[in-house]
Amino acid sequence: MEGEGECSDNPFTSVMTLTKMRVPHVPQRYVLPPSQRPNLTLDLTTTLPIVDLSTLHHASQRSLTLDTIQGACKELGFFQVVNHGIPLPVIHDALAAATEFFNLSLEEKMTLLSDNVHNPVRYGTSLNHASDKVHYWRDFIKHYSHPISDWIHLWPSNPPSYKDKMGNYAKAVQVLHKQLMEAILETLGLNFGNLQKEIEEGNQLMAINCYPACPEPDLTLGMPPHSDYGTLTVLLQSGPGLQLQDNKKKWLSVPFVEGALLVQLGDQIEVMSNGQYKSVVHQVTLSAENKRLSIASLHSLPINKKIGPAPELVDEQHPVSYNEFSFRDFLDYISSNDIADKRFIDSIKKSV
Ligand code: OGA
Ligand code: NI
Repeated sequence: MEGEGECSDNPFTSVMTLTKMRVPHVPQRYVLPPSQRPNLTLDLTTTLPIVDLSTLHHASQRSLTLDTIQGACKELGFFQVVNHGIPLPVIHDALAAATEFFNLSLEEKMTLLSDNVHNPVRYGTSLNHASDKVHYWRDFIKHYSHPISDWIHLWPSNPPSYKDKMGNYAKAVQVLHKQLMEAILETLGLNFGNLQKEIEEGNQLMAINCYPACPEPDLTLGMPPHSDYGTLTVLLQSGPGLQLQDNKKKWLSVPFVEGALLVQLGDQIEVMSNGQYKSVVHQVTLSAENKRLSIASLHSLPINKKIGPAPELVDEQHPVSYNEFSFRDFLDYISSNDIADKRFIDSIKKSV
């Protein structure tokens, strides 16, 4: 029955439900302590790097583009890409499938509800509705996506076009991730060939996020500050809302560029690079007027593969700075720790 999640004997309430109820204020569990509230008036004039990926295929432009990527990885752990090879209709279809999914009845979405982070497909709200002390203004569906034939039968069967539309986008992003990894490993002086098989056989987790308009966007967040665990996250957004920290811990708002995709460095790259590159800390802010959708494609090496600093990047001046970890280690960590309190990467840094 629609509205089931609002009953007091069922603690699950999606933010789409709160939006339908037109709550005039955010419920108390969403209110952040003042020190954690966002600054919604950040300077939008800072230009963040945009990389034209078509230039990587031209011998004369390639090294200049790699320099831009290297600079972006060092300063921000972030850049946007255009001419990335994913056609605009594929992007629009993926966002349309996401919109339709979140517009389904709560009853329909609840069939996929799970608070178990090890489940390959799960619907939920906030970070983890079962354990969050403070709640975040986000609903999500997450699913494993690569190789797609292993997982697609578990994806939502409603809306009926979901599997097709999201599948086309998922496959295209997997290809893009490989190209980006090739470029980024080159900027670190690492041999792509050594990792190619593990990149091709790696894990792809898609997090499809819905951030409805929020009555009090200055009191809460869509997602708290965090970094992603994997190699790279490729993020597609329907509008502005993402903020990130530069290497001086200054918050910046990411400008919205139609058709562009955002690339975020994750903890596996930070570890592999032995700290030369840092995973980017980011958070999601909300709007009082507009709903925002995003599709984060989180890539990592195979789930049980332990990743440590590349031996080529370790010497006397640069001793091993991180312990090894796998995606599974990360999942085990978030099953029993609140990542809004302590970052995973801090738990694997070696103390010197
Ligand atoms: C994530 C994430 C950002 C966004 O899903 O890890 O950071 O804009 N998403 O939705
Ligand atoms: Ni993230």
